[in-house]
Amino acid sequence: YSLKALNTFGMDEKARYYATFSSAEELRGLLDDARLRMPAPLILGGGSNILLTRPVQGAVLKNEIRGIEKTGEDAEYVYVRAGAGENWHRFVQYCVERGWGGLENLSLIPGNVGAGPMQNIGAYGTEIRDVFYTLEAMQLKEKKIVSFSNAECGFGYRESVFKKQYRQQFAILSVTCRLLKQPRFNIAYGAIRQELETMGVKELSVRAVSEAVIRIRTAKLPDPAKIGNAGSFFKNPEVAREKYEQLQKDHPDIVAYPLPEGGYKLAAGWLIEQCGWKGYREGDAGVHARQALVLVNYGGASGADIYRLSEKIAESVAQRYGVQLEREVNVY
Ligand code: FAD
Ligand code: EPU
Repeated sequence: YSLKALNTFGMDEKARYYATFSSAEELRGLLDDARLRMPAPLILGGGSNILLTRPVQGAVLKNEIRGIEKTGEDAEYVYVRAGAGENWHRFVQYCVERGWGGLENLSLIPGNVGAGPMQNIGAYGTEIRDVFYTLEAMQLKEKKIVSFSNAECGFGYRESVFKKQYRQQFAILSVTCRLLKQPRFNIAYGAIRQELETMGVKELSVRAVSEAVIRIRTAKLPDPAKIGNAGSFFKNPEVAREKYEQLQKDHPDIVAYPLPEGGYKLAAGWLIEQCGWKGYREGDAGVHARQALVLVNYGGASGADIYRLSEKIAESVAQRYGVQLEREVNVY
């Protein structure tokens, strides 16, 4: 079964078995079949954060559980649950339209709801963990449904228990977010403030912030429908203060953000650009011309081509800056 249309890098790898499910019961039924259970299946959402480098040995099971509904409210919050197979941006829009605050900075992130907690998706100063309330997931071996609280997800920067110790052990079925009835806006990110000004926004609203984020993203990030990519290929590396200060001495214009715990997060896009990779192309594998952190497939690159390019990039950054880049994208 070709997965080409199911991943935004457009990699033409095959899966031995492929099936979709639109309810927990359907997933249970699929898992009754030992061939679909072992080796551990790859639960797929929108395919916008994976790099396929070889044929997938186990089954690929695409989550198509739909539905968005308000499950409760109290004085301050509304609780909204979305099926893991819902498109993420549709869920954001649903909440934005109702004036519920908290998801607007995460507008237009590609992919589906179920993958959000997987890497604690984030953008423009907000992460899903800031609004995440609970999720339901099926333990794939025992076919048991369990719920995870915010703390139990072990969220970190582009990290969670699902990406680490529970990798390929759970299928996330639904996610519930807790949103503010009286929004509090997070426009600390310079680009958002600038965009709001350009738009001539006088009074902040979730809709205006969402619109600003959409405009910034559309201008900077390549559209996977036109050119294959999976967003940032690497994470922004975190370094200790001493390391940052030394780098800053040698490279005064280095781009970095102080972390609450005392270290610094470096802009990987800057490091990669400085090493001369921005706009680089080797066959059909390349580095985006407007965002060096995004690797692109111009059409005919294989997953292995992209992976090799990422190794070369990481090597050159390590050599020049003594900083090890870690991949954000899930490599299979
Ligand atoms: P997939 O690629 O289908 O899956 C990703 C991983 O999650 C896989 O390991 C998969 O097995 C697992 N998974 C998916 N669904 C489930 C489930 N229901 N249960 C268990 N495991 C599951 N990310 C950000 O955080 N911030 C950004 O700003 C951002 N910008 C992007 C811009 C572009 C142009 C692109 C292409 C990607 C961007 N991304 C960004 C990455 C991507 O959009 C997110 O990681 C998104 O959450 C992936 O969703 P998906 O449904 O496509 O996941
Ligand atoms: N920069 C360069 N050259 C480049 C790219 C970036 O010098 O080619 C420098 C610029 O100084 C820029 C800074 O890096 O100001 C930061 O760049 P940008 O605002 O584009 O954000 P990023 O750090 O590259 C991160 C996330 C994105 C998220 C944006 C906005 C990671 C790995 N990536 O990118 O998430 O959308 O911030 O918040 O944290 C993703 O995870 O797939 C993703 C796209």
